[in-house]
Amino acid sequence: MSAGDSNPRASDEKIDARSDARSESASRADAGNGQCATASATASGAVDSPAASPVPLVRVEPLGRTFEAPPELTLLEAAAFAGIRLPRLCRNGTCRTCLCRVVSGEASFTIEWPGLSREEKAEGYVLSCVAVARTDLVLDVPEAELL
Ligand code: FES
Repeated sequence: MSAGDSNPRASDEKIDARSDARSESASRADAGNGQCATASATASGAVDSPAASPVPLVRVEPLGRTFEAPPELTLLEAAAFAGIRLPRLCRNGTCRTCLCRVVSGEASFTIEWPGLSREEKAEGYVLSCVAVARTDLVLDVPEAELL
């Protein structure tokens, strides 16, 4: 046996650990309130199953790029980490520079009163600087560009 032999057992354990984490995450989502389960069902058109993607995926159109949007990051922050520049200015939900439309999926806000009218909310508009993906999303952001 040489020092360069790999340990296939160690590799299997890593895969098992990742699988366990995803299962646990899916279980937590299922055990949450009914609203979460409903949100996942709403996003089912965008992905095969929520368990296959524990971190919501956001596709930016017409750019055609997708990034992961963990719940601790706003859409604006998650996009920046992925090398995608979304329009922005104040970053606190007041200037509306980051206004964009959710084509599919569900987002929530990190502040109670984002600068949106009731009609804009009903039409799916969000402010990406204070919005968090609750499900996989498709965002319409014509001004988006790669960093
Ligand atoms: S950057 Fe100003 S509202 Fe989002």
